[in-house]
This record gives sequence, structure tokens and C-alpha cells, in this order.
Amino acid sequence: ADPLRTLAAAKGKFIGTAVATSPLANETAYRTIAAQEFNQVTAENAMKWDATEPSDNQYNFTGADQVVAFAQANNQIVHGHTLVWHSQTPSWVQSLSATAMKAAMLDHIATVVGHFANNSAVQSWDVVNEVFDESGGYRTSFWYNTLGSSFIADAFRAARAADPDAKLCINDYNVEGINAKSTAMYNLVSTLKSQGVPIDCVGFQSHLATQYGFPGQVTENVARFAALGVQVRFTELDVRIVLPADASEITTQNQYYTNIINACLASTACPGVTIWGFTDKYSWVPDTFPSEGQALIYDAGYNAKADYTAIATAL
Ligand code: XIL
Repeated sequence: ADPLRTLAAAKGKFIGTAVATSPLANETAYRTIAAQEFNQVTAENAMKWDATEPSDNQYNFTGADQVVAFAQANNQIVHGHTLVWHSQTPSWVQSLSATAMKAAMLDHIATVVGHFANNSAVQSWDVVNEVFDESGGYRTSFWYNTLGSSFIADAFRAARAADPDAKLCINDYNVEGINAKSTAMYNLVSTLKSQGVPIDCVGFQSHLATQYGFPGQVTENVARFAALGVQVRFTELDVRIVLPADASEITTQNQYYTNIINACLASTACPGVTIWGFTDKYSWVPDTFPSEGQALIYDAGYNAKADYTAIATAL
């Protein structure tokens, strides 16, 4: 059977995976599947601030360069993740004054985006990540508390200056359907566009869970963002299950994977879908959601699950 990347390419889409540097370096089965099945990769952690600039102005691209080299060797495109986030950002950033924090942010964006600006594989960035709370207000992160919401437009302008060709995204979770949070994101993107701020895409992380149901009005939500003139990407798809998983939960999980693929296929504004890893051997879910798991499309022994077949069938 054709690999997922062949099926996606035939539809003009990418199908991607997050990759972690340790198994990428150490496990042949991990490398083989990542290379054969996907035509896009996102670094799961290697491009985050704590990895790329652990101390002020001490940049380290070891892991990030490994991911990009792997992608280039396998004819894959790379989505940069992520420049400005409240998590996985060193404490030295968090305690800066407003003036110094803004300067650190602008320097970080210029340096990290600049490092890859001439690399044809790296085509897009999550410029800001998770800036909203669940009710649609701004998250009261150290960024917002210190700089106010202006850090968002400043970050996009800095990213555009560092790589005029990259697609620049805002990314968040629980924004796949229509709700208070996704409406706040819609209003922000609309405002940024009207102000001439360079923003090209929104990322719906899509960390789904069978026990919470499938988000409502995903197709309509994609359409309203598309009407603003931005791409819509499904950037971190996984579907976790409360363990032990029963047959009906697995069927639901298969259906959620199918639904997301179909939502992307249904819109010319959607360039592709990225799964947040591929094997249950390496998934953030059990570490983050105790007693949940089996969220990805291969089991821990690298056997394709029914979710893989669901995606292949949808594509
Ligand atoms: C997660 C990684 O998967 C974990 O390995 C890490 O320990 C924490 O971050 N939203 C995001 C991703 O934007 O960067 C997060 O990735 C998952 C939630």
C-alpha cells in the first residue's frame, strides 16, 4: 500500500509528524517510519526556547539542526515550533523588565528564524503559541503580564523581517471547533490582518480526547478563518483514550482521526495535518494526562493501528 505521504501528496496536502531528537538519533524503526510515512515534520521540543537559547544570547541549534537535516535527507518540509510561548522558556526570560523582555524576544526571533531563513525545508513557524485562556481572554502569562498584548504583533513583525518567505502562524488548543476561545482567536487574526500585521496561518493543535467528544462545527470554523485569508493547519493531532481502552473508544478514536483529515481535505485553506508523534512509545500524553494514552497511530512496538488505516482510507 502507498505510504501516507504519497496519498496526501496526491491530494496536494502534507501529512506530518512531530519528531523527538533522541529516538531520531537512536532507533532505526523510528527513523524508518518517520521518513517513509510523512512528508512534513515538526520538532517536538528541539526548536523551543529552552533548547535554542537556554542562556541569554547563548544559542544552541544542535537538536534543531538534527531535525532539519533529517527532513532534508527525506524530502520533507519543516514547521518551526515555537518562538514565543509561556512554557519551556527559561526563567531568565520570565524575570526580565518589559524593555529587556521585548528586546530578548526580538533577538530570539531574529536569531532563530534567521538561522533557518535560507533553508528551503523550513517553510513556516508558530510565532506565538497558546496566548488565550479557555474563556477567550488573553492568557495571563509572563509575556502578557509584562508586555501586554502588543508582544503578539511585535513577534509577527520580527518573524517576517527575519524570513520574508516563511508562513507565520498563531497556534493554540481547544480552538478546533467554534467556541469562546476560537472566536477570540478569530477576532485577533481579523484585527491583526486589518492592521497589516504579517500573519499567514492559524494552527489548531487538535489534542483530542475520546471522552470529551469531537469539537463542534470544525468545518465552519475552518471556513471562517479561511475567509480572513489565512491558512488553517491541524498542527498537533492526537486522540487520547482513558485507559484501558475498550473497542468503542478505539472506534471513536478512528473516527476522530478520519474527521480531522476530512476537515483538511474539505478546505483549500488547509495545507496539511501534523500528528503529534506517531508511535505510542513516544507520546506526551501519558506524561501529561495520567491514566490516558494510546493516542497515536502506531503502537509502542511500531505496528500500525486502526487509526493508520483510518487516515489512509480518508486520504
Ligand atoms: C509537548 C511535548 O510533546 C513534550 O515532549 C514536552 O515535554 C512538553 O511539550 N502544546 C504544544 C506542544 O504546543 O509544544 C506541546 O508539546 C504539547 C502541547
